[in-house]
Amino acid sequence: MESVRVLGAAEADEMARRLAEVLPPRISAPFTSAFVRSSTLFDEYVDGLVLSVFRAVGLAEAAREPGTADEIVRRAGLEPGRARVPVEWILRRIGRRGILEPSEGGGATRFRLIGKLPDLDPLAVREEQRHLDPSWLPSYVLAETVAKDYPAFLRGERVGEEILFSPLRLRLWVDFFSNDNGLYAVNNSVGAGAIEEWMPRGPATIVELGGGLGSGATAVLDALRRAGRWGEISEYRFTELVPAFLRRGQNALQTRFPDASFLRFASLDMNRPLGEQGVAPGSVSLVYAVNTVHVARDLGFTLREIFQALAPGGRLVISECIRTTSAHVIYVEFIFNLMETFRSPVLNPSYRPNGGFLTPEQWQGALQAAGFVDVRMYPDLRRLRADFPDFCVGAVSARRPAGA
Ligand SMILES: C[S@@+](CC[C@H](N)C(=O)[O-])C[C@H]1O[C@@H](n2cnc3c(N)ncnc32)[C@H](O)[C@@H]1O
Repeated sequence: MESVRVLGAAEADEMARRLAEVLPPRISAPFTSAFVRSSTLFDEYVDGLVLSVFRAVGLAEAAREPGTADEIVRRAGLEPGRARVPVEWILRRIGRRGILEPSEGGGATRFRLIGKLPDLDPLAVREEQRHLDPSWLPSYVLAETVAKDYPAFLRGERVGEEILFSPLRLRLWVDFFSNDNGLYAVNNSVGAGAIEEWMPRGPATIVELGGGLGSGATAVLDALRRAGRWGEISEYRFTELVPAFLRRGQNALQTRFPDASFLRFASLDMNRPLGEQGVAPGSVSLVYAVNTVHVARDLGFTLREIFQALAPGGRLVISECIRTTSAHVIYVEFIFNLMETFRSPVLNPSYRPNGGFLTPEQWQGALQAAGFVDVRMYPDLRRLRADFPDFCVGAVSARRPAGA
């Protein structure tokens, strides 16, 4: 079992010190003791929300007898099509606390409630977070908002995308996908660090997929400017599927970088051929994305499209939340399991056996299957994971071979 408890200040100091020894210096700064402790606080907060959902929709009763996720969903009278993946995630998540006993048999995992459900106090956790580092609070607000609608979602009364992306909730996303959000900003700083490390020298034509509200692009452009590589950018094409995000992202970037004449903005759906959306085959030197490619409906298709868009020798760099093992249940999945494209993509037995985030090995398999070579990770979570099983931020990169 993973350790599931809020770290004390001294333990967090120690973990931050050990992390600083192993992380590349370029990206180590944000992984402070406050970051480490905040991660465990948010873990605890999400567990509190998960337990409230578990009770509210009758999962506690339904798990008194051993059952697979499907059986428990049926016993609780939830909508099987959408509830199976989130309920299995909830069972695994609560299982980390030792109150659900998993057993394997007939190719399936069964769960049985064996302990008393703990009484966690989300309000106290949130107050502690407020004192420690209030920049994490947008993540708390988002998770709490989602938790309120979870029962209706699991019962099939509301669609997840409508819960997450109703126009009234745009503010939640503006605050969440932000370099001012301590939880989220590390995805952007690790991605920007990887670009600095791996962007080939010379004129660069960059396409960003799922650029959203522009916080990832901001971090990259800031980093390239600091590194004296601004002049290498021939074009930075910022693309996004959701029109309201694209408009805000464009506005944010044009305001912050008025001198960036290389910026272009376009709507783009990575589930459709890129060539018919203005990205000519072989025309791009770098494709970039932050926490986007794992929601591709068919990962193999999207990676092959990216491969085709790249010039020979061109690179894909993606910053992703990464499972350190296939059993790793990551706190933000509580939120994103509401999205069908997140929880139920087209599966592939070798590299996409389930929805959600991928492991390092699954990324490697998916990229190689699409023809990429020279798959790298930054930092290399395969080396870190034995000592830091919950460290889940990393960039993955791969190259289209020069002769392909
Ligand atoms: C984690 S967010 C990226 C946030 C962004 N880096 C920022 O700073 O705001 C993932 C983005 O992928 C977009 N997305 C989802 N499905 C997509 C698709 N099929 N094609 C392109 N983008 C998509 C979402 O709208 C969202 O903006």
